[in-house]
Amino acid sequence: MSALEPINFTRGVPANESFPEAELAEAARRVLEKQAVAVLQYGPAAGLAQFREWLAKWQGVAADRVLVGNGSLELVEFLCIGLLSRGDLVYTESPSYDRAIKLFRRNGMEVEGVPLEADGPDIDALEKMLARRVPKLFYVIPDFQNPAGATCSLEKRKRLVELAEKHDFLLLEDAPYRLLRYRGTDEPTLYSLAPGRVLHMSSFTKLIAPGVRAGFMIGDPAKLAKIGKVAEDTYISPGYFAHGVTAEWCAAGQLGPQIERLKKLYAPRLDATLAAIDKHMPDAVATRPNGGFFLSVTLPEGTSTTAVREAATKYNLNLADGLAFFPSGGGERFLRLPFCALTPEQIDEGIRRLALAVKDARGA
Ligand SMILES: Cc1ncc(COP(=O)(O)O)c(C=O)c1O
Repeated sequence: MSALEPINFTRGVPANESFPEAELAEAARRVLEKQAVAVLQYGPAAGLAQFREWLAKWQGVAADRVLVGNGSLELVEFLCIGLLSRGDLVYTESPSYDRAIKLFRRNGMEVEGVPLEADGPDIDALEKMLARRVPKLFYVIPDFQNPAGATCSLEKRKRLVELAEKHDFLLLEDAPYRLLRYRGTDEPTLYSLAPGRVLHMSSFTKLIAPGVRAGFMIGDPAKLAKIGKVAEDTYISPGYFAHGVTAEWCAAGQLGPQIERLKKLYAPRLDATLAAIDKHMPDAVATRPNGGFFLSVTLPEGTSTTAVREAATKYNLNLADGLAFFPSGGGERFLRLPFCALTPEQIDEGIRRLALAVKDARGA
């Protein structure tokens, strides 16, 4: 690969070569043959009936515990409007998904960050924060967290739902990376531990393609109805055609094999990232996730991500700003590395350039 080719460690996008294009074309043809009017007409805001029913069966819940949206992120916006009020306190992990933090703030929420450790939120810190003020909601990404790559331990999952019960706040569990586990065994979802306390959300954007804009929320029907009403007032009904294609593809049994293909494609990319860090940046402190899209690096003391980002442009290496992931400050030395959309060769070259940029930034 050319030393001049730009390398992007910026957003967590899936690999272009992962999209099941031919299968989706077939599913689109079938869905139009079978139920053209249903997927082309307006309908209930909670989602296309066929898709909602498939999701309910897959998740082992009743259909009224499923709300389908145009991707999962927008459902968080509808939740803010339907369930929260301006000025309400929301906790997120720190760091957390920057777009979710931005969205809570845009809807008038006060956002505070609970420090994230390698095995999930710092429970002692959380208890201290709860003693001061209880949030309406805690937004958690328990599996292969964006941006850190951390996975919450079973013990911490249990503590989180206990604390939510005790202090009466809602847990919003965002799990778009959960099924992309390359090693090890699953922990139970927060939702399975406390279905009355948790709204669980996930998405097909990382499993099929962002273009299908198919995301969903699982939980208490009364809460979902309020969120669904905001959806209805916003777009009448979500993108039934894309959702119909997704449902048809899922019903044909294509999700399982696709997840296996993704694991085969992405696991070597995670390994390549870890190997490249060991080779080019042996002193770096990196998270070592067992799945997902991201790992993160804490840069050496005295080196800021801002300075490294700037130095990296000289090497045609694009990095994301670390600060936006931290709702309550911090993150000056935090660097997120999304590895799925790069080949192992690009990853090795990217980390080589990163090591040069870190050296330059430290010397500056
Ligand atoms: C944690 C998390 N939640 C939600 C999303 C967005 O999902 P969707 O495309 O379904 O809106 C992303 C995308 O990067 C994400 O990382």
